[in-house]
Amino acid sequence: MASFRDLCFTPAEFATAAKISRDQISLLENEGLLKTVRRKVGNVDRKMITLEDMQAYFRNLRIGRHGDRMETPTGAEAAGPVINKLGFSPELPKHKVQMFYNVKGGTGKSTLTAQYVMRASMLGLNVLAIDLDGQGHLSVNLDVLDAHEHATIYDVLINDLPIENAIMNVGPGLDLIPANLGLCNIEIPLNNKTRREYRLSEAVARVAEHYDLIVADTNPAASILNGSMLVASDLVNVVCATNPLSFHGMSLVMTTIEQMEREFRKQLEVKIIPNMYDNREVISQEVLGELRAQFSENCTRAVVNRSADLNEATKRRTTVFDVNAKGSGSTDIQAMTEELLFN
Ligand SMILES: Nc1ncnc2c1ncn2[C@@H]1O[C@H](COP(=O)(O)OP(=O)(O)OP(=O)(O)O)[C@@H](O)[C@H]1O
Ligand SMILES: [Mg+2]
Repeated sequence: MASFRDLCFTPAEFATAAKISRDQISLLENEGLLKTVRRKVGNVDRKMITLEDMQAYFRNLRIGRHGDRMETPTGAEAAGPVINKLGFSPELPKHKVQMFYNVKGGTGKSTLTAQYVMRASMLGLNVLAIDLDGQGHLSVNLDVLDAHEHATIYDVLINDLPIENAIMNVGPGLDLIPANLGLCNIEIPLNNKTRREYRLSEAVARVAEHYDLIVADTNPAASILNGSMLVASDLVNVVCATNPLSFHGMSLVMTTIEQMEREFRKQLEVKIIPNMYDNREVISQEVLGELRAQFSENCTRAVVNRSADLNEATKRRTTVFDVNAKGSGSTDIQAMTEELLFN
């Protein structure tokens, strides 16, 4: 079982991610825009693209397009015309600080946060993930099983630990502030702190320049910790399962966000991501229809279908692209990621 940092992609998987045809891969290699390695898969020696080479490819495209310094002194500099012909070259995210949120439990926040940050880092973005839930499910999804031995945001907000000391690396281009059960006790001490809702945004601001994207997974409550993350965020991604109770809770979620906007005099961009959709179920169709009718401006075009691959990815603590790059889970996460990053 490969962990995120050891991922390798077949040419077909790379071509899908880069939105190019497979024939273009040799052209990219000749131009010095893409590095491949030979790996034994079973008995066959195959051409593969490592995670780091995929990240370097996207990073170079982005930097090259904007005419800045190239990451590697390859033929990339001379590759202007090739770059212009290529399918997909990711920009910097429109909203740097984002959170996944819903006061209702079990809607898929941790699953989608984990898949989103891994996908964004595959696109060459430098990402910081923050686990704000004592259950530590984002940490587990990112293959951190010893979170109880690490500092958490509790130490930063309550014990004045510098935020840098709570950050661990979980893969190339992907850092994490993990969470453990101790974080469940943060509400009372945080309530007693001065400037309690600003402490998290001030801490995040101290490291923001090192990252292209900062994403938090939150606990299923209207807690002070979540309120602090609303103050820190530019974009709130509300994950709504396409079932009646999840839809019912949406008014409470939207009211909580509006209250925070008034209290802290800030405008938040809100996106609602329909999750666990099953087009064979009438109830799923009805809830998606209601969501789009009532929250037309906020609802994402991307819908995440219920998918065994996403559950399997959680079990294997890896990206869904490692489980089944061609399945609906991967297609949905790719569409969701692009929409949350660039729209
Ligand atoms: N699109 C999906 N298809 C299939 N299973 C999913 C999907 N999204 C989430 N799940 C599964 O649903 C369960 C709950 O997901 P998750 O833990 O991400 O929810 P959550 O909102 O973070 O929960 P909590 O509120 O407790 O933090 C997990 O077992 C996860 O694997
Ligand atoms: Mg969760």
